[in-house]
Amino acid sequence: MITGILIAGIALLNFDLPSIRPESEDKCTDCHGSLVQMSTVHPPAEMKCGICHASTGKPHPGDAKGFTLTNSFPAGLYAKADADTFALCWDCHDMDMILVDSSTAVTGFRNGALNLHSVHIRGDKGRSCSACHNVHAASNRHLVRDKVKFGNWSMPMNYIVQDEGGSCAPGCHGVKEYKR
Ligand code: HEC
Ligand code: HEC
Ligand code: HEC
Ligand code: HEC
Repeated sequence: MITGILIAGIALLNFDLPSIRPESEDKCTDCHGSLVQMSTVHPPAEMKCGICHASTGKPHPGDAKGFTLTNSFPAGLYAKADADTFALCWDCHDMDMILVDSSTAVTGFRNGALNLHSVHIRGDKGRSCSACHNVHAASNRHLVRDKVKFGNWSMPMNYIVQDEGGSCAPGCHGVKEYKR
């Protein structure tokens, strides 16, 4: 058993030794491959991690602050529902998808014309994108997560794609359906 602990300890040390230069992009998936090994990969994560992660120049791994995000994006489940909060996403997506409450054009996440993105993302305690989406890759369509994380809790999303809409039962509420 002691040998086991020793071997585990040495393995951990070794893992930390070949500290890579944070800017060596092609190496990211050597260690973080599981983030993108799912059926739908977010196109920018397939292209270049550095679209969203910028090196601070500190050694990585080894320094907890090896990377910052290239634009603002909140940590955690809730955030003030300003467009600025999610600026990282508006480099490519149209922010109207959370700002326009009623429309048949700005998002597919709607019930009739009621924009369900803006329903979920409003006020001081709006849900962050990553409450529902994986930003790297997911096994559901539309990069919808399998599980919603609440602190240390994790609840199944039960997301089902339907004709012209979908349904989920995430534990935040019972089964809800939307139809365009
Ligand atoms: C030699 C293995 C290894 C390589 C290569 C590697 N990482 Fe990491 N990375 C780690 C470990 C270990 C952690 C800390 C544990 C964790 O969060 O998974 C980490 C944490 C992170 C974090 C969260 C903490 C932070 O610094 O913000 C980000 C973001 C990250 N890595 C991005 C990258 C990117 C981008 C690349 C490519 C440029 C990369 N990593 C290459 C091993 C690696
Ligand atoms: C579209 C922007 C985007 C791209 C592209 C992207 N990331 Fe991230 N990444 C994020 C955000 C935002 C977070 C913060 C956590 C969250 O909200 O999910 C994050 C968090 C992480 C973390 C911390 C652990 C975790 O799962 O939260 C690691 C490690 C990481 N990214 C590695 C990578 C690697 C490696 C690539 C390239 C294969 C990559 N990222 C591409 C946006 C991105
Ligand atoms: C409450 C859960 C939830 C939250 C929070 C959420 N989304 Fe979505 N999003 C969805 C669902 C479900 C779909 C799939 C809609 C469909 O059926 O086409 C979707 C679709 C999308 C699409 C595809 C285009 C569209 O609008 O239909 C993009 C892009 C997107 N979301 C980005 C975001 C961004 C950026 C944020 C944060 C600002 C966010 N989402 C927050 C649930 C969510
Ligand atoms: C560099 C450009 C870029 C950035 C930055 C970016 N995305 Fe995307 N995203 C894309 C592209 C391209 C697609 C694929 C669009 C398509 O399939 O029509 C996509 C697709 C998506 C989808 C799935 C849409 C669907 O219906 O399948 C979601 C959800 C999403 N992005 C969320 C986000 C979130 C959240 C952020 C911010 C953390 C973000 N994106 C930042 C380029 C980007």
